[in-house]
Amino acid sequence: MRKIHLALVAFSFVALAGYAFAQQAAAPARPVPPNLPEWAWGVMPPAPPAQPGAAAAQPPAEDGTILHIEGSSVGLTRTQLRGIPTAPDWHPEDHGPMPDIVSKGRMPAVRACGFCHLPNGRGRPENAAPAGLSVAYFTQQMEDFKNGLRRSSDPRKANVNTMAGFAREATPEEIKAAAEYFAALPIPQGWVKVKEVSMVPKTKIAGNVYFELEGAQAGKEPIGNRVIEVPEHGQERFEMRDGHAGYIAYVPVGAVKKGEALAKNLQCSLCHGANLEGLGPVPSLAGRSPSYMARQLFDFQTGARHGLWSDLMKPIAAKMTAEDLVNITAYIASKNPPAAGVQQTARAN
Ligand code: HEC
Ligand code: HEC
Repeated sequence: MRKIHLALVAFSFVALAGYAFAQQAAAPARPVPPNLPEWAWGVMPPAPPAQPGAAAAQPPAEDGTILHIEGSSVGLTRTQLRGIPTAPDWHPEDHGPMPDIVSKGRMPAVRACGFCHLPNGRGRPENAAPAGLSVAYFTQQMEDFKNGLRRSSDPRKANVNTMAGFAREATPEEIKAAAEYFAALPIPQGWVKVKEVSMVPKTKIAGNVYFELEGAQAGKEPIGNRVIEVPEHGQERFEMRDGHAGYIAYVPVGAVKKGEALAKNLQCSLCHGANLEGLGPVPSLAGRSPSYMARQLFDFQTGARHGLWSDLMKPIAAKMTAEDLVNITAYIASKNPPAAGVQQTARAN
């Protein structure tokens, strides 16, 4: 039994995530900025009104089945896949021992960091990739979340509020342990494969993430001024939290070159390192999710993110047009991070 197809499991997770989002989205609304680059947020169509008496989506019942994925000898049950009692870890060879806060969290106040950000820190487009971030930067971000200085420009993106809640609840010792753990992990080369296209595969959005449509629904549409980032190996491996299943970022033709010119003009490498691999405490950009990066740049622009160090980014992001956001993030994502090992030596600070 090498591999079990779990389309149904995947579907239920998405439905459940959507339900959780709907519940949290009831918070008092800040207005959504009119020029929000929706592609980066994976803005979902409004949920249909609940049918009276309809049961909320439930994850499939635990029946003890051991699930497998390609390329891993680990077997996990459905309960384990939901992070109970520890974050699912298909690739333990990727990382050293996880501190409790990363692997188990401290429920109910703090969910395991490794559940969303994955045990290898590569993250997912709807959250962030903390792998290889300096301890100083990581710790400052937790402070900024805690102090309400890091929010999402789109108040509907509930998981940023959830993240801020964890930052408020986590102890300094837990944050230190998590920061040191993630700082030691590299983002691998080719994690995001950038492809320039004029026509992009048609997609659906679930849990703020894009998935290519399959079968009769599959097709193409003009990419327009967007980056569309999709799991390279499909929805199932994404939902199974496979930390070896990377992404394809479809970008408009010519975007990488235009982004490169902009990066040169605005001197990103001055602070982020010659190859955008991170410099001292300043975070790496190379090879990280373009959707995440665009959200951050827009958040600096609107001031939704105005942490202690954000003043350095504000004037740079302020100049960016909607097209610049597409081009610059296409370029950043296309840059390969340094090979494993190099980054850590460079980040000893
Ligand atoms: C429920 C999912 C979830 C869990 C669990 C979670 N995070 Fe996050 N994290 C997020 C989201 C969402 C973001 C921000 C994405 C955005 O701004 O668009 C984020 C961002 C971050 C960042 C900022 C990264 C950067 O590049 O600036 C850090 C640091 C971080 N998280 C640390 C943690 C730590 C430490 C834990 C465990 C105590 C944790 N997270 C648990 C969802 C999660
Ligand atoms: C003057 C120094 C400086 C320059 C130049 C600069 N940055 Fe930054 N950048 C920073 C600092 C410092 C941070 C952390 C900000 C914070 O903590 O709020 C940052 C954060 C970011 C982030 C968020 C990363 C994350 O993990 O959340 C992105 C994206 C980013 N910069 C992109 C760029 C791009 C693209 C350019 C060039 C167009 C650029 N930066 C130029 C200093 C700089």
